[in-house]
Amino acid sequence: MSTDTFPIRRVDHVRHYVNNARQSSFFYQHTFGFSISGYSGLETGSRDEASYVLKQNDLTLCFTAPLRPGHPMAPLIAEHGDFVQDIAFEVDDVDWAYKAATDRGAIGAVEPRTLEDDHGKVRHAAIRTYGNVVHSLLNRDAYNGPFLPGFRAENQPGDGIGIIEVDHCVGNVELGKMNVWVKWYEDVLGFANLISFDDKDISTDYTALMSKVMASGNGRVKFPINEPAEGKKKSQIDEYLEFFGGAGVQHVAMRTDDIVYTVSRLRARGVDFLSVPKTYYDMLPDRVGKIDEDIDVLADLGILVDRDDEGYLLQIFTKPITDRPTLFYEIIHRKGAKSFGKGNFKALFESIEREQALRGTL
Ligand code: FE2
Repeated sequence: MSTDTFPIRRVDHVRHYVNNARQSSFFYQHTFGFSISGYSGLETGSRDEASYVLKQNDLTLCFTAPLRPGHPMAPLIAEHGDFVQDIAFEVDDVDWAYKAATDRGAIGAVEPRTLEDDHGKVRHAAIRTYGNVVHSLLNRDAYNGPFLPGFRAENQPGDGIGIIEVDHCVGNVELGKMNVWVKWYEDVLGFANLISFDDKDISTDYTALMSKVMASGNGRVKFPINEPAEGKKKSQIDEYLEFFGGAGVQHVAMRTDDIVYTVSRLRARGVDFLSVPKTYYDMLPDRVGKIDEDIDVLADLGILVDRDDEGYLLQIFTKPITDRPTLFYEIIHRKGAKSFGKGNFKALFESIEREQALRGTL
């Protein structure tokens, strides 16, 4: 029995820095069905940036935009486009976590501090990970406000689509850097390598990538890390690195318990997904055996299925949600399976390559 050397309760929230947080939050409210539950900006005394907090069950997103030139994030938004800047962890003891992480080699981003308003206190710190991404460490046990001190409550309900929580967050890093960051998550945050995929698992005629799935001590936080591998043409990871301007978050997987409902609603609201050839569904019964869902319904919606020793999973991937071919989302429904859909990689990557060819980036 291994011990958890860096206890993390959960992913507290995912913060995006964007040029226009008002429009981003409107998009996530009206497509993904998040409720806007918190706001900070000029009206609440925040003079430099505006933020919107969006919630759906246990998944919290925060969109923040600079309000004036000279904001420290403005050059990073110009470089990367709208981007995931913080995957924040809730921890028991922020001061201990920050000291442990930095003692083990993490670079500090924000030293431990107390944020405070009428609703109480939040202890907060942050450490740097790959690219310009940080992990906030926070504890809100002594706080009962809508999000963090300085935020006011908002009541702008979204029409939810059954998204429950973050299942995993995937980082793309530069060639040769995957193992550097694997070791960083092992050494600093006590993560363990759950699964590895090499270029033989994840290659098509054209492109390849390598991936290792890292999981926190309690298994609740899962971060696959990808790097490009040599292929005949430019891999999807190289495309990301070029357009993003370095390492960053590639996709966030949102977990649902009713993927047919979730994806039906997303499609009705105009969200575009990667598609696989119809032949994928002809082979499906042989590949995954008996499943509860109607395969014709899955085929209509483009939902993929994979099986492992413990059960099966259903998943689907959006096309990039920004103009740049960078961040996208996965919707995942687990029926026992704890894996990540390896059996779908080839069909998916061929789909991604068709999109890359349309973009002229293959
Ligand atoms: Fe994923």
